[in-house]
Amino acid sequence: MNQEGMKPILFTRGNPAEEALPIADIIDCANTAFRREGKILFQYGHYSGYGPLREWIAKRFGATYEQVLIGNSSMEFFTFVAALMVKPGDTVFLEKPSYDRAITAMKRSGAHVVGIPLEKDGVDIDALKQELTRTVPKVFYIIPDFQNPSGITTSFEKRKEMARLAEEYGFYIVEDSPYRYLRYRGKDVPTFRELMPDRVLHISSLSKILSPGMRIGFLIMPTDLAPQFHKWSEDTYIHPVLPTEGIVNEYCRRGLLDPNIERLKVLYRPRMETMLHALKENLKEAGWIEPDGGYFISTTLPERIDGHGLWKNARNFGLVLTDGRGFFPDGKGENFIRLPFSALAPQEIIEGIRRLSKAIEHFRK
Ligand SMILES: Cc1ncc(COP(=O)(O)O)c(C=O)c1O
Repeated sequence: MNQEGMKPILFTRGNPAEEALPIADIIDCANTAFRREGKILFQYGHYSGYGPLREWIAKRFGATYEQVLIGNSSMEFFTFVAALMVKPGDTVFLEKPSYDRAITAMKRSGAHVVGIPLEKDGVDIDALKQELTRTVPKVFYIIPDFQNPSGITTSFEKRKEMARLAEEYGFYIVEDSPYRYLRYRGKDVPTFRELMPDRVLHISSLSKILSPGMRIGFLIMPTDLAPQFHKWSEDTYIHPVLPTEGIVNEYCRRGLLDPNIERLKVLYRPRMETMLHALKENLKEAGWIEPDGGYFISTTLPERIDGHGLWKNARNFGLVLTDGRGFFPDGKGENFIRLPFSALAPQEIIEGIRRLSKAIEHFRK
């Protein structure tokens, strides 16, 4: 309990809601998969992941078997990309703000990480062009759908323009899409991979639509890059963990994934709408991003608010917030607030935004 005796509301991690996890189905799939395939799933296996699941992913994404690599989480692929495609001193572009762990992975590789400012419909293309006159990155890491942390979706026009620039300047796009399937309104925008399969490494994950504890991510890559990634996987851990891949294979082949995604949309859509409504009611002076899906809404507080003080003292107001600076490669995100709604019940969302507005009042400079 904090000073005011309130149980804190966590606006921190992008977790699925507990009730989002289809535990009974997972147990049933585990039972079937382990009985039927136990001799394979509990033995050393292939370095690129469990074959039947690779096949299922390849078919769903219109890729070849060779183009698909399964890993222990999608995050692991950030380190693979950093190791294989970026040498110390090379440049990596990403959106500003971007996923804090991706920024860290790229920085750890010794890359010079440059953030291109985000607008409501994707990166500022003029700023990107300007940056390209100074340096050409090895890769542009982007989360085009319902971005973490901002909630922004890159428009079709901007995707086309970025794809054109990638071709012209010769850099790869690393497209990270774990939230793509969770669209609550509007229509899907084509992926970068659909626009130019030869220049895109498409990363995705089962974490947000099935279970993060299973740690299953996958990478779909251009054929010419595939051998080095498969080899890197083998030399890193021989192969990713197979038992959870066996469970997920059974789950997907029973046709349970798409109905689960539909169930999640029904669970999360009202949470997003509740948060948007609460923001309209309470945060009159701050602008926020209206996402069309995913887990996050974000807001940037005006300069006259001490965002750093707010973050440090949030517990006194019954809140836990993420330090906004982590989402900015240059660390300048004091007034940026990420608001994940996925794991909070509507009542907690309403109360959380009410507390946030009270805290903001307190930190007016
Ligand atoms: C954009 C993005 N990429 C990757 C991940 C990590 O996913 P995984 O659980 O597959 O490592 C997250 C998790 O929050 C994320 O938001």
